[in-house]
Amino acid sequence: MYTDWLIDRLRCPETLNMLEYNGSNYESGAKVFKVKNDILSIVYPDDLGGDDAKYNKFYNLLAPLYDLNERVMGKLLAGVDMIKGRQQIISFLGLKPGMKVLEVSPGPGVFQKFLRNDIGEKGELVALDLSMGMLLQCQKRNKSLNVQLIHGNAQFLPFADNSFDALYHFGGVNLFNDPQKAISEFIRVVRKDGIVSWGDEGFSDNYKHERRKKLMLKINPGFAKPRPIVPDSVYDVKENEVYDGLGYLVVAKKL
Ligand SMILES: C[S@@+](CC[C@H](N)C(=O)[O-])C[C@H]1O[C@@H](n2cnc3c(N)ncnc32)[C@H](O)[C@@H]1O
Repeated sequence: MYTDWLIDRLRCPETLNMLEYNGSNYESGAKVFKVKNDILSIVYPDDLGGDDAKYNKFYNLLAPLYDLNERVMGKLLAGVDMIKGRQQIISFLGLKPGMKVLEVSPGPGVFQKFLRNDIGEKGELVALDLSMGMLLQCQKRNKSLNVQLIHGNAQFLPFADNSFDALYHFGGVNLFNDPQKAISEFIRVVRKDGIVSWGDEGFSDNYKHERRKKLMLKINPGFAKPRPIVPDSVYDVKENEVYDGLGYLVVAKKL
């Protein structure tokens, strides 16, 4: 189910100690992390609070309809072709065949065919989300893409330092309890000179459609959230406009 490479990189999200595989589950000291539906659940903390708890309930419920809702609403409210937008987002990453990539917060896996396409069969594709409902959608939708799914929290990633060649995240920054902590975790698990990227909703400065803007802000106040500060542990920082100016994607390299 998980490759030896990934098993080697798995860590307890609280202590970052190595895990032992006991034939069905993973252990670290007295803690046991269970595998259910072929997905390792390694969420920390056990009791989610604040926005993490609120959005987790919401996304578990929305999971089966998420993609349809995004595509229809994107077109109707903002005139955006979400599928083209997603493909463009992944092209900004500059991935190469054979890379080991972590996608954080994949939702139902709408980017995974583009990610797999860029890294090829030999690349490792791992995806971590806090919503088990979303991960089950990834499993259903992307059976042939060989994605290794992990149930976890973006702010406490269960991986060793410097594990991945690239990390991609879109759409959770505005939801996390502590977006800055999540970004420092993204950087921690990527190797030196590896690619770190994150983004979310947020109008670009030259977004001209004032009526659409007002309507979208009413539906989703996340559009008005401040963007997290880009830490100085990355270089070569590029901020891209995505989805026709409705969102942004930071792409940088780890120092
Ligand atoms: C708006 S959806 C984005 C899905 C997909 N990346 C996209 O852009 O279409 C937000 C996703 O973030 C996940 N999420 C929310 N809080 C999280 C957390 N603390 N850790 C990991 N994932 C989280 C949700 O479960 C959901 O799948």
